[in-house]
Amino acid sequence: GFCGLLKKIVMFIVIAVAYLIQMLIGGTIPLREVVITFYICNEALSLLENAAVFVPIPERLKDVLLQSLSVQVCYWGGISPTETGQRMFPVCSRGRESAFNENERVIHTMKQFKRYLVTSALPYANGPVHIGHLAGVYIPSDIYTRYLRLRGADVISVCGSDEHGVPITIKARKEGVTPQQIVDRYHNMIKKSFEGLGMSFDIYSRTTSPVHHKTASDFFRTLYEKGEFIEQTSEQYYDPESKQFLADRYIVGTCPHCQNERAYGDQCEKCGSTLNPTDLINPKSAITGATPVLRETKHWFLPLDKHEAFLRKWILEDHKEWKSNVYGQCKSWLDLGLQPRAVSRDLDWGIPVPVEGAEGKVLYVWFDAPIGYISATKELTPDWEKYWKDEETKMVHFIGKDNIVFHCIVFPSMLQAHGGYI
Ligand code: MF3
Ligand code: ZN
Repeated sequence: GFCGLLKKIVMFIVIAVAYLIQMLIGGTIPLREVVITFYICNEALSLLENAAVFVPIPERLKDVLLQSLSVQVCYWGGISPTETGQRMFPVCSRGRESAFNENERVIHTMKQFKRYLVTSALPYANGPVHIGHLAGVYIPSDIYTRYLRLRGADVISVCGSDEHGVPITIKARKEGVTPQQIVDRYHNMIKKSFEGLGMSFDIYSRTTSPVHHKTASDFFRTLYEKGEFIEQTSEQYYDPESKQFLADRYIVGTCPHCQNERAYGDQCEKCGSTLNPTDLINPKSAITGATPVLRETKHWFLPLDKHEAFLRKWILEDHKEWKSNVYGQCKSWLDLGLQPRAVSRDLDWGIPVPVEGAEGKVLYVWFDAPIGYISATKELTPDWEKYWKDEETKMVHFIGKDNIVFHCIVFPSMLQAHGGYI
């Protein structure tokens, strides 16, 4: 107990110092060592969590400590907890071998792979990277890649900026510039930070690159032609003032459960309930404040339920060694029953849906972004296919907690629907 507490206190001090330094230097982070120290402390903490089985820490005290820890991490970079509180302990793997097991800390070495493909979640190009990102995703991925290289493995590591999605358009509107200007600014800033930190990505690409546009567009086309999508028309809120359909996050109103007046169209942060935009009382557009109206719109859905059998076997049977939070979240999604998910949006920023009658519609950012891993590999090497289509390649994704479902359920279903990928 006492030793664990001491280590936690030391860790808080490291966090506080790192935080102060980051504030002083104002957004750029030349402090790789600080981050590595943080990461090591972080790892030490999770080991201690296991040690706690032998030296019990009083349950309540543990709660308080863990809570204050996640609060600290949330505050890094000044991003709201829903965005970064999620970024702790981030590993999951595809391929047939295991990654890390949170409980047992076993690294399996049974199967040898010919080569490795390491991916790191593509950061959104709507803000600088902060220490939370580095500690949660990029430093661990860098350490893992360097380790494999030291072992003489054939390994490539790909990353890039995630440059589509609604928040970028909102930011552009607020600043009176184009979305392209926003992503240019932050892509360059992030790229420079990663270079300054000595990250060993083999390529740092971006999802506005022509290769990516073509790759994502062709990917959609293939699924479309194979009949892998469902087309569905539904009513959605439209903002008559800004003349656009509103993403769930950009509708605010009163929560029907707790009367909180600032609930979002997807959830109420006060009482935690999951909402639909039409559940809100007195809905308003968060962009203009106008009262939205319901309008019909057509979208393409990927029926995840169609891939349930594959996912159940691949995750629940073949990947029991995934970190317990990753495994648990996947299991609970599978047990709740998978639903078709829309892969298009009404928006004028993104990759146009490449079929007739889809004017004004783009691919949903979470459809195109993971394809960014494929595009980046293509840009890196003409030999890209062996990293994606050969059973002897092990792919490891480094991600944040809020990315789990997209990497473990949606993207694998997309690859499965396409065919030919590992
Ligand atoms: N931009 C997302 C985030 O920061 C991560 C995208 S990962 C990818 O949460 F797979 F989509 F690329
Ligand atoms: Zn509520």
